[in-house]
Amino acid sequence: MAWTFLWAWGGGSALDSTKATALLATHEGPISRYFGLHKVPSPCLPTILIPTTAGTGSEMTSNAVLNDPETHSKMGTVSDYLYARLVLLDPELTLGLPPFYTVITGLDALVHGIESFVNINATDFTDALNIRAMRMLVENIREAYANGGNLKAREQMLYGAAMSGMAFSNTQNGIIHALGMSVPNEHHIPHGLMMAVCAPMGLTFNALAVPEKFAVIADILGSAPAGASVRDKARSAARGFMTLMDDLGIRQGLSHYGIQKDELRLIAEKAVAYKRLMDGNPRKGTADDLEKLLEEFF
Ligand SMILES: [Fe+2]
Repeated sequence: MAWTFLWAWGGGSALDSTKATALLATHEGPISRYFGLHKVPSPCLPTILIPTTAGTGSEMTSNAVLNDPETHSKMGTVSDYLYARLVLLDPELTLGLPPFYTVITGLDALVHGIESFVNINATDFTDALNIRAMRMLVENIREAYANGGNLKAREQMLYGAAMSGMAFSNTQNGIIHALGMSVPNEHHIPHGLMMAVCAPMGLTFNALAVPEKFAVIADILGSAPAGASVRDKARSAARGFMTLMDDLGIRQGLSHYGIQKDELRLIAEKAVAYKRLMDGNPRKGTADDLEKLLEEFF
């Protein structure tokens, strides 16, 4: 029996496009028929995925995120049939990634760890993966940014991104992805950069819902004051993420990225309607709540 595989190496978009191609090779289009959760009815072409960034974790996930030209936003198809048949993790392939892309892809991976860890679908198994992944990413991203040739840091980041990918495939992401993916595509802001900029909003908003977990995140980010209460630790997590952004040269605030104030309402409305992402978010909110949050971090 002859086997046909699709194989790809590249960043998250390349891997996601390959998954979408594997889907359309065996199912009738358009791809929009499969946007959402578990809409793929049968197996796709098998894939071999080789990441060259430590970011999306796409090589380990059941997601393919694509641009939808009709809605001008990023849409995802999620199906167990999209998992790769084989994954190769080789940190040498990430050595040539420039510092800026190292940072924005790495911060996306960290956001996956955070959103999956605090998700209402989290389990002991995803917690174990996420705690380890967040540590590996936080402990190595500054080194990888400062010296892209640091193979040990690159390896730890690649593994961390893959582990958080494994975890969020079981939980989905949350409000940070819902907000970031609701920013209109015409701004052409890379996914990881948008996630980093929206992360302090999600950390601030969600800390109240699962303070014990945010206290763990704060410990990992190094923002928790010694001897602080769980509540105070949890509240410091957003500050810890912002300090990390400062160290990595990423500016905070949506206004730095061409987003206008009069767009915030639409972003909030789109985000709140992003069921796949908001259903598992630990804190519920209205479009008004999210608009306020967007304004606070504008
Ligand atoms: Fe992401």
